Amino acid sequence: MKKLVLTLILCIPNLVFASSGGPVLQKANTNVHDTAAVLDGAKLYFNYCIGCHSLQYARYQRFGEDMGLTTEQLKENFMFGAEKPGELITIGMPADDSKAWFGVTPPDLSVTGRSRGPDWIYTYLLSFYLDDAKASGVNNTLFKDVAMPHVLWDLQGWQKPVYKTVKGEDGHEHQALVGLELVDKDKMSEAEYKKKVEDYELSARNLTTFLEYMAEPAKLKRERLGIWVLAFLIFIMLPVTYLLKKEYWRDVH
Ligand code: HEC
Repeated sequence: MKKLVLTLILCIPNLVFASSGGPVLQKANTNVHDTAAVLDGAKLYFNYCIGCHSLQYARYQRFGEDMGLTTEQLKENFMFGAEKPGELITIGMPADDSKAWFGVTPPDLSVTGRSRGPDWIYTYLLSFYLDDAKASGVNNTLFKDVAMPHVLWDLQGWQKPVYKTVKGEDGHEHQALVGLELVDKDKMSEAEYKKKVEDYELSARNLTTFLEYMAEPAKLKRERLGIWVLAFLIFIMLPVTYLLKKEYWRDVH
């Protein structure tokens, strides 16, 4: 019996590993309470993404209020295609047209921060690479044969795949994709390259933070409220409970 239990325990990590055999995601390390990050991500979003992706469950006004923006700031920086702050964040591109252009209608991204999760979005934005076989000229290591063009190429630059010869289980050698690197890597010093990569990672992180906030704007308030609830429990309820306990037990002893 002991042996069986031990075997089962030893098998658990393998089972978990086998079931999570998907691609490795990079940690986004986002913080939705960092208003500057959400705002930077929003700026990027309204410059690079809004042409194709609506946020149709969100209103400009709510976003402005959450970020502490005046109506003027909201209008000037974010409301390019809208008239009133109370409007939903929709787009003008007809779904049929975009389907004809890209083969798929670009999805609404209102809830993608939750459905895909921050790590997925962040990794996705880092994973575009040049691929001659595709009509758009790019592919994505996380989202194979993706229909989206690499719209952030002017921020990131172009990446190429890096292959390594590996021996397969059948003993034959084959080329395996082991990573991506910027095409211009050789033209840059090590410090320049590092900075370029880090700058883009920050943009991708901020965009992810914005989408995470969009998927659950109430999180900002809920988490702040949560801290007060915890403080109440610890600083008020705990001493009261302790005193009560002492009081009850005094009679027993
Ligand atoms: C020119 C149009 C276009 C632009 C601009 C664009 N996308 Fe996309 N995006 C697409 C299309 C098309 C898809 C669907 C890909 C597919 O299904 O193959 C997509 C898919 C996605 C997905 C995956 C959604 C999912 O859950 O499957 C994310 C995330 C995304 N885009 C984020 C962005 C971000 C962030 C930006 C701005 C930096 C952006 N997109 C700009 C066309 C666009």
